[in-house]
Amino acid sequence: MLIKRSTAIKPSEITSEANFLNRRSFLHTASLAGSGLLLGSGCTQADTPADPPFEGRLMGENTTGLELNSLSDIMSYNNFYEFGLSKGDPAKYAGAFKPRPWTVEIAGEAEVTGTFDYGDIVGPHPIQERIYRFRCVEAWSMVIPWNGIPLRDLLRRFKPTSRARYVAFETVYRPSEMPGQRSRVLDFPYLEALTIEEAMHPLTLLVTGLYGIDLPNQNGAPLRLIVPWKYGFKSIKSIVRISFTATMPPTTWSLAGPSEYGFYANVNPEVDHPRWSQARERVIGSGLFSKKQPTLMFNGYAEQVAGLYQGLDLTRNF
Ligand code: MTE
Repeated sequence: MLIKRSTAIKPSEITSEANFLNRRSFLHTASLAGSGLLLGSGCTQADTPADPPFEGRLMGENTTGLELNSLSDIMSYNNFYEFGLSKGDPAKYAGAFKPRPWTVEIAGEAEVTGTFDYGDIVGPHPIQERIYRFRCVEAWSMVIPWNGIPLRDLLRRFKPTSRARYVAFETVYRPSEMPGQRSRVLDFPYLEALTIEEAMHPLTLLVTGLYGIDLPNQNGAPLRLIVPWKYGFKSIKSIVRISFTATMPPTTWSLAGPSEYGFYANVNPEVDHPRWSQARERVIGSGLFSKKQPTLMFNGYAEQVAGLYQGLDLTRNF
């Protein structure tokens, strides 16, 4: 698969939007190579409501030191290639997607496997709120109040065996409801994976909602992952399959561009993307001239997660 390097733009000049366009041109190249084209869609528009007064309902502590993004930022500026490549496409085209009924298959190296209803997956666990920084590999960021359950509480119920070294995740494949899946911009279904230690880390969240509402379709309804110290592409949306594996599973972005998107994808301001700097990030919602701020190691969660990577060369294992 061809990966084009942009020589026209210096990393220092690249805004997030330019980053996106770069990434998009990479996808375009990839899609042309596969002779696919993005299709239009007759889907209805998903609602992007005005911001209700949520402050009083927040339960989680905001330890980020940053302002929360508004609900409309979070619902209107999305990456969800199953609905198209533009940031506005998921809000525009995800209205016809049906997040209920929903089942999740649990497979692989575990004592308990099978297919479980959404209620069986989430029901036994109290929903928590976690306010996390969110950093996309395209060098933009948000702060989002997620609702969900620690992934490890769920995974333990299936009793992974000692052979389980990784956890793989798969997004639903429904081209009839997801117009982007009818193109060949990526190999769908979207796949992601974590090491078992990452999956069992207390910060890793299986998300059911945000701002106290059910997860909007464009944000990955009804169940998605959030791994706050990793680039956003690890946080896979609309999960239908979770499997425990003995070997490192394939992941969509590392298959699409292995030199650009690694398996670990830990936020790291010292390791640039081959086509842009990762030292700073554009703060979504900070106005017309977008504020930029320094990117933090492990997206600000180094104290909690650096121990997972002791002895690992983070430049090679990017
Ligand atoms: N999951 C699926 N299935 N498809 C995607 O295209 N995009 C990823 C991630 N999860 C993506 C996905 C990327 S690149 C990012 S930055 C985040 O979702 C964006 O999440 P948000 O739209 O809720 O901000």
